[in-house]
Amino acid sequence: MSRIPEETIHAIREQTDIVQIISQYLQLRKSGQNYFASCPFHDDKTPSFSVSEKKQIYHCFSCGRGGNVFSFLQEIDGLTFVEAVGKTAEMADIKVDQAVFDQARQSRPKADSTHAKLLSVYEKAEHFYHHILMNTQAGEEAYQYLIDRGMSKESIETFKIGFSPPQRQALKLYLDNEDLNDSAVLKKSGLFSDRDDDTFVDRFSNRILFPIKDKRGQTVAFSGRAFLETENSHRTAKYMNSPETELFNKRRILFNYDKARPAIRREGEVVLFEGFMDVISAWEAGVKNGIATMGTSLTEEQVRVLDKATDHIVLAYDGDSAGMEATKRAADFVSKETHFSIEVASFPENLDPDDFIQTRGQEAFKEFLSHGRDTLVSFLMKYHRRDVNLKNESERLKYIEVVLKELARVTSAVERELYLNQLKDEFDLSLDALKEQLQMFVVEQQNARRKEKRQDKQNQQQEAEPTVVFHHNKPAVTSLIRAEKALLHRLFTQDEVWSVLSASEKDLIFSEQDHQLLYLIYDEYYHSREERSLQDFLDYLPDEKLKSKASEIAWISMSDDIAPGEIEDYLNVICDRQPLENQLKQKQMELKDAQRSGDKSRQQSLSIEIINLIKKMKSK
Ligand code: GTP
Ligand code: MN
Repeated sequence: MSRIPEETIHAIREQTDIVQIISQYLQLRKSGQNYFASCPFHDDKTPSFSVSEKKQIYHCFSCGRGGNVFSFLQEIDGLTFVEAVGKTAEMADIKVDQAVFDQARQSRPKADSTHAKLLSVYEKAEHFYHHILMNTQAGEEAYQYLIDRGMSKESIETFKIGFSPPQRQALKLYLDNEDLNDSAVLKKSGLFSDRDDDTFVDRFSNRILFPIKDKRGQTVAFSGRAFLETENSHRTAKYMNSPETELFNKRRILFNYDKARPAIRREGEVVLFEGFMDVISAWEAGVKNGIATMGTSLTEEQVRVLDKATDHIVLAYDGDSAGMEATKRAADFVSKETHFSIEVASFPENLDPDDFIQTRGQEAFKEFLSHGRDTLVSFLMKYHRRDVNLKNESERLKYIEVVLKELARVTSAVERELYLNQLKDEFDLSLDALKEQLQMFVVEQQNARRKEKRQDKQNQQQEAEPTVVFHHNKPAVTSLIRAEKALLHRLFTQDEVWSVLSASEKDLIFSEQDHQLLYLIYDEYYHSREERSLQDFLDYLPDEKLKSKASEIAWISMSDDIAPGEIEDYLNVICDRQPLENQLKQKQMELKDAQRSGDKSRQQSLSIEIINLIKKMKSK
């Protein structure tokens, strides 16, 4: 439990606006009184995640997660409560006594799961490699190499770049010394070469190491660059990555996302580079919203991560033909079924962004990145005309056709008009003819999409289970559940309800287990505090699930004042309906049994009984 004084937490809570904090992670859109976004905690296609400024809570209508500003940070950044309170203060620019937090943080128990051990191993390894690079003779050559490439000492430190020494036992000795010597964990870490015997030799030896961090900024892998010219350097790969572990999944990770996220939110766009070196050089030049994949094509998982932060991507790949191909692939992939708008920074003369910075300077780079961009269409036009001889009539016609097909995908009329005019001028064609042709492609694509959709639908229907007589796995919101929620809502938000409850002689038994638990915990909470608030109660709750449930209940909109007799009404519903509700539960269980055993006639009769029970409950 936290040792942060109640007053401190209270003060931080008072001075924070949940909307302001969450909008640093998600794109919130206001609608009515609340704010909406797609939920960061599950794969969400519609904006089901909502934030209430008035109540200072969030709630996802689809996955059910919810809570206050602290629980949001706990969940999204994987923080402890104390850390989340600290981070809130930091993000909201509230001055706090740092000593209080440091003390509370130290009382955090050391987790000893494999996961936690792997993280410590990576943390220590990063420290070790960085130390070798910065402070030892073994690291000098590597350090010089980086400096010669134009990297500053400051960024070597910011990115905690390291060097793995030629002594391949050194890492193991160091970890031993740090009491990290669980061989099973070390094997899993992927930091050592796979060998049958029990010797641990450093996998990366003689490489410059770039720590790869997850979105929380924890190191979960390394990418090692070879840099020494040796006899067989033509045979070793330029970069070598850690193997996949339970911490590291190449498809998910985006290099520098942890540091770039605030800038991505601020700038409203992300710059996607091909290489680590590009990201780091751009960072030095002041472009802080740059990220890179692990040398692979962008994946769906990565696009989903980015989708939480922005809807604008700038592709800044290498200026060679491989880079152009990669840009085209990424653009096709991103624009398929997503709403991202895409721009392209095509670097000239085969330069990659890092080369561009080193040869032309940081200012020129920033200038190029902000003003030298192509729209997606103008990039595609460049792309398609690469190998086309426009003097040849059939090649020329083909080119025009391809461009029109790309244009058919563009939804902005203004943009279409612009490029149609360009084509008209360049090839001396009539605008009407171009428009007519474009319209044909639009119709063609619409038909293709429709057909695809029909196909999808058919496939789905074929996969779907034969429909059962009665869907009981999603219980209808009965008036009983509604009454329970309303009562708890009043209880959490209005102090006087407790006295009404205490005065009532009825035994309060809730039909939902979570409601019962919340009620019991509230009882405990009520008696342990002089001053109470919903926010404070949320922090008091022991786990995410209950916090989510309580937020869901708090989310219900109700009039400010309790109507006369309102609480008594809830009590009547809850206490009287008990028998019916229990019967229903019983029958539903029996139905499950009957389904399991395949007893068709029993299923039939139970379904009818259940329907009748529900009718009865509804009519009450
Ligand atoms: P420098 O050559 O040091 O400037 O690196 P770069 O970032 O310019 O590399 P490059 O453009 O050649 O490659 C882009 C990215 O692809 C790198 O950052 C790596 O992630 C990845 N990559 C390049 N070469 C290799 C390789 O040999 N093996 C693996 N696994 N990845 C590579
Ligand atoms: Mn490069």
